[in-house]
Amino acid sequence: MKAIEIISPSLDGLTLAELPELTAPGNGRIHVRMKAGSLNFADLAVAFGQYPGAPYPNIALCDGAGEVVAVGDDVWQVAVGDRVAIHVKPRWIAGRPNAELANAMRGATLPGSLVEIVDINAASVVKAPDYLSWEEIGSLPICAMTAWRALETGKIGPGNTVAVLGTGGVSVFALQLAKARGARVIITSSSDEKLERARKLGADATFNYRSNPDWDHFALAQTGNAGVDLVIDPVGGDGFGKSLSAVRHGGMVALIGFLGGGAATDLLPVIFKEIRLQGANGGSVADLSGAIAAINAAGIKPVIDSIFGIVNLREAYKLMAGGSHFGKIAIRFDW
Ligand SMILES: NC(=O)c1ccc[n+]([C@@H]2O[C@H](COP(=O)([O-])OP(=O)(O)OC[C@H]3O[C@@H](n4cnc5c(N)ncnc54)[C@H](OP(=O)(O)O)[C@@H]3O)[C@@H](O)[C@H]2O)c1
Repeated sequence: MKAIEIISPSLDGLTLAELPELTAPGNGRIHVRMKAGSLNFADLAVAFGQYPGAPYPNIALCDGAGEVVAVGDDVWQVAVGDRVAIHVKPRWIAGRPNAELANAMRGATLPGSLVEIVDINAASVVKAPDYLSWEEIGSLPICAMTAWRALETGKIGPGNTVAVLGTGGVSVFALQLAKARGARVIITSSSDEKLERARKLGADATFNYRSNPDWDHFALAQTGNAGVDLVIDPVGGDGFGKSLSAVRHGGMVALIGFLGGGAATDLLPVIFKEIRLQGANGGSVADLSGAIAAINAAGIKPVIDSIFGIVNLREAYKLMAGGSHFGKIAIRFDW
């Protein structure tokens, strides 16, 4: 069967490979015919040799979705014909993580999704709503789960205000899911055009951080100087102090990523304001299941910026690296 392997850390390392056909699935395992997936920052890290412990060669792509085509004995979670999102951390089913559960990741340290058929633990997939396309389902595993988990951990509900930084994959899901939970959302972007799109998705207040980096002042003004209940921060870096400045006393900052690089930040506000700092290292199958249930209940349509086929795969990675997208970049497995 066909797969795209990344044989060395560079975009030129993305290579069409022919792998042995699978035999029947074992106990508790299923075969999924893969249909689509989406790009994440982790895919860039693998492609550029920056993901710790990533082997080469390895099947590319963390996120994926497909149709169950065979089930082994003792499989009760899904049946042949089901449309599923493939969780990226197949060992982490629920509860608190440890290194073994959290660090085993498809497309990074484990084989990824860009293959005709995967053989996988039936407990590590989540059924998807019928109204979503393959590309939309393939956009869910990492970003929707991460956004949902931050909102859950922050106990966000009606009356709360959430600040979301940027308009990439995690942030657009965070906007949509926070609105579904009844919260008020302030979102930032480098682009007025993207902020306009965010408003159409329900953002209550928007701020261009390129015109003026002081988005924290704006967030404070928007909340009568109290601060927001939760900041979803995929950026970190030198601007991380603004997240600490924008959050209310007793609020939470979810540090999701490090697009802004490492941070040298004054941590005193963490003490004075009793801020809860919450890191994220993906989530469990239960977290993905919660995200998909919420998406289904609210009828949320994932925002797909663009769809690339296999022959244009490298162009998709380049678009992701360039950062001009809004929401998710999808890959259609059109072998
Ligand atoms: N910890 C986890 O479990 C987890 C899970 C998923 C992702 N992540 C991390 O979260 C980060 C974002 O992931 P993603 O998939 O959402 O990426 P993405 O789709 O590439 O989003 C990038 C967006 O972030 C915004 N941005 C970039 N640099 C910024 C800066 N200096 N200040 C403010 N905003 C900035 C930009 O938004 P505008 O164009 O609107 O300005 C950009 O489009 C990555 O570092 C990724 O590794 C972590």
